[in-house]
Amino acid sequence: MTASYEPWDETRGAEIIAEHANQEGATLVILHALQQALGYVPEAAIPMVAQALNLSRAEVHGVFTFYHDFRHKPAGRHVLKLCRAEACQAAGGDALAARAEAKLGVSLGNTTADERVTLEPIYCLGLCATAPSAMLDDRLIGRLDQKRLDALIVEAQR
Ligand code: FES
Repeated sequence: MTASYEPWDETRGAEIIAEHANQEGATLVILHALQQALGYVPEAAIPMVAQALNLSRAEVHGVFTFYHDFRHKPAGRHVLKLCRAEACQAAGGDALAARAEAKLGVSLGNTTADERVTLEPIYCLGLCATAPSAMLDDRLIGRLDQKRLDALIVEAQR
């Protein structure tokens, strides 16, 4: 299943920000809401968030860059996340990540040139007991091995 996102425009961005501006921990809540709606957090939204929350741009930018989950650019049609946390690394995650990078021709955190697949690291999917783990769009996958990874990559490239 491909995620469908709204296109960025300032009016929609302002609406999303206003919806969440009064919540506790509003910076994170707003950044998550923007990414959920748009698929990424546009650079242009950072000063808007700062203004709405009476923070400096640097403060909002600091939160934005601290968390690996926030995307700076729109994602590809499919997002393949490979767990890079400890249990998955110990179960062979490094080799699988290298294999995915080689097969897709992109490093973790990037999108293929045809914009079909974004390959991202994630830090624990809660499936440590069946490590190594991955996620293709909204689907969780445990017990990943080379064969299953190759099949996921083929699926993601469709
Ligand atoms: S460390 Fe990979 S799922 Fe927990």
